[in-house]
Amino acid sequence: MSEVLSAVRAICEDGLARGPNLGDGLRQILYALEGLGDLRPGRSQELDVVERYLGSCRALACHPLAEALVTAMSREHDRVAWHASASYDDEPTMADFLRHYAVAVIFGLDRFGRRCPYFSDRAALGVTLQAPGVDYPAHAHEAVEIYYILAGSADWQQGDGIWRRKVPGDFVLHEAHEPHAMRTRDEPLLAMFAWVSDLMSDVYLVDPAGPAPASEPD
Ligand SMILES: [Fe+2]
Repeated sequence: MSEVLSAVRAICEDGLARGPNLGDGLRQILYALEGLGDLRPGRSQELDVVERYLGSCRALACHPLAEALVTAMSREHDRVAWHASASYDDEPTMADFLRHYAVAVIFGLDRFGRRCPYFSDRAALGVTLQAPGVDYPAHAHEAVEIYYILAGSADWQQGDGIWRRKVPGDFVLHEAHEPHAMRTRDEPLLAMFAWVSDLMSDVYLVDPAGPAPASEPD
């Protein structure tokens, strides 16, 4: 198995050992790893956000399992093909955000005219990169989603709950249609994400309701 996929497996096994909350989703990722198609080497788009921040993320992956995946990604370029997100092509309010955000799907369905390095119809998994000082506004999708922070940090909101700082080694679970938002401050965010159900879901923006919640102190 490739170094990237081995690192993903180690992260999932660590999450399973931590407790039951993420169990179904992590087991679905492991199930997907058992049935991947052959490698179809991918090529990354040249994106300014990747050029500017991916290198610095390698120094910000301050957790052993996160560092292992980040290092593997740098060695196995053909497993990690960076693209601009295609989720908001028809959303003019997201044009600026999209210049500061990139995604690389490692396995999953081929969507938006793009081919994943490995095909899977069991789960979709990849990494996202968000530049510093960027708000990813509240959005949701039918797919149940797991995030794992690899490098840097972000403040994270689920539903209308309190904003919480997420750092390397943290997992986040988004249930189906649960709104979530991420804000970076002075460093970028590199995170592994996985959709573990409803892989053909569309992502949609969610209007925030009610007053802004208080932030958790640093
Ligand atoms: Fe999401």
